[in-house]
Amino acid sequence: MDYKTYIAERLPIEGMSREEIAESIAVPPDTTLGDYALPCFKFAKLLHKSPVLIAQELAAAYPSDGVISEATALNGYLNFKVGRRGLAEETLARIEREGEKYGSSTLGAGKTVCIDYSSVNIAKPFHIGHLSTTVLGGALYRIYRSLGYRVVGINHLGDYGTQFGKLISAYKHWGNRADVQKGGIHAINDLYVRFNNEATEEMETEAREYFRLIESGDKEAVALFDWFKQLTLDYVQQIYAKLHVTFDSYAGESFYIDKMEPVIGELKEKGLLVESRGAQVVDLEPYGMTPFIVLRSDGASLYGTRDLAAAFYRKQTYDFDKCLYVVAYQQNLHFKQLFKVIELMGEPWAKDLVHVAYGMVSLEDGAMSTRQGKVVWLEDVLNRCVEKALSIITEKNPALENKEEVAEKVGVGAVMFGALYNNKIKDIVFSYDKALNFDGETSVYVQYTCARAASVLSKAEIGKATVAEPCAQEYELIKALADFPDTVRAAAEKYEPSVIARYAVDTAQKFNKFYFDCKILQAESEQLKNFRLALTKATLTTLKNALTLLGIGVPEKM
Ligand code: ARG
Repeated sequence: MDYKTYIAERLPIEGMSREEIAESIAVPPDTTLGDYALPCFKFAKLLHKSPVLIAQELAAAYPSDGVISEATALNGYLNFKVGRRGLAEETLARIEREGEKYGSSTLGAGKTVCIDYSSVNIAKPFHIGHLSTTVLGGALYRIYRSLGYRVVGINHLGDYGTQFGKLISAYKHWGNRADVQKGGIHAINDLYVRFNNEATEEMETEAREYFRLIESGDKEAVALFDWFKQLTLDYVQQIYAKLHVTFDSYAGESFYIDKMEPVIGELKEKGLLVESRGAQVVDLEPYGMTPFIVLRSDGASLYGTRDLAAAFYRKQTYDFDKCLYVVAYQQNLHFKQLFKVIELMGEPWAKDLVHVAYGMVSLEDGAMSTRQGKVVWLEDVLNRCVEKALSIITEKNPALENKEEVAEKVGVGAVMFGALYNNKIKDIVFSYDKALNFDGETSVYVQYTCARAASVLSKAEIGKATVAEPCAQEYELIKALADFPDTVRAAAEKYEPSVIARYAVDTAQKFNKFYFDCKILQAESEQLKNFRLALTKATLTTLKNALTLLGIGVPEKM
């Protein structure tokens, strides 16, 4: 419910638009006097009256109703009290009407958002470090889509570079087709690690030659590279399915090889390219940054060159209103440079490029390390968490059906929630025990609350719910439910899915307070029972929608 607009529509102040009035309305930190307040000081000049008098006159004229039950004046402020019953009626009716769509809107209709996320590296481990980009990006994807945007999910594959020459060389020396086909990404990674540990000078030279062969389109080299790429993609697809993320494009770095030239040409034309120690760079010193290297002294392109071409390609192909890059904060400088270069090229859409940076995830029981093969594979973390979830569930509810299915939702959800609950820029230390705490600020707490609500609902039919004047616990819960659409919008605006994750935990807490303090099935009257059942149902719908936006499954029973 957008109270500010509702009030503004009923509050004529000559010479001010509805929007201006709505904007002036505030939520006071202490809500004992009112849920909303309009300070009248700034109208004094316009209306040639004292703020005290203005507030009094407006209060007297305000048509209170079920939505705003009271308007009172105090010391130049106009205070509004939300009609609790009106709010309950309106909110429950809306959630019942909108169901799975509650929280979504058409705010972004006609607008396009590109989201570059996960962006895995071919033939390299899919490790715990990829958790955040994948899960945050996946959540932003669903959040924007639910707000009516056209969303293009892009997996900017790391599929270009000298390492692929090394891989071919390692494969030729130590690998064979059957083993690699069977071992998939693990076998490829082993070969790569072995190359880094054992390669001779000759093999290094050979690797450079193989890379050149890939670049020149040599049939055998390209076929091997494509095979490694396919094995990696087959592997990550399974993890994406578990995490409920999808992509519309897998155009990776290699896709831009033939698309860099025109952009480099434009840089030259615009006089932005200068030579520095043999390399071609854009000087960013005036902006306090190191130069952006476009071509190395041997003429080779870089990660940044491909990103530059990719940005232009995306603008041309999708005509985005925003292009988000969900990438760790270690790449802050890279994106600042990239965006600056595009701005210097005179592209007005440079301002629509956003680096959605996030912090590092490590494990409580062993720091993550990508060095020499000692890495924590995301798959292992997911499996381990599902296993632990299974043993907790089995202990808590031995008779539960489909325990494996429930454990999958709980375990995978717990890992995902680890990356979603905190402000994204924070470094996170993941702990299995904390993530699986049924009473903590966790996804399993929210899931369990959903199962609790579902269980209540399975025990009774909801009759016609006449809404009663809500008690404090009911009112707190209703207010939270009414806030959901604003919460989704705020999460999108801030590129911060944690807003929704926190909302889910907070709302679950409010439901549990209601559940323990107020009798639902044993309510004093049939009418009150129906109202409480309706509130329970609305809570279940809202919490489910929240978890679904985050990509987390909701078991029916737990
Ligand atoms: N593959 C890169 C990495 O693992 C991330 C790519 C992010 N996206 C981009 N357009 N640069 O570091």
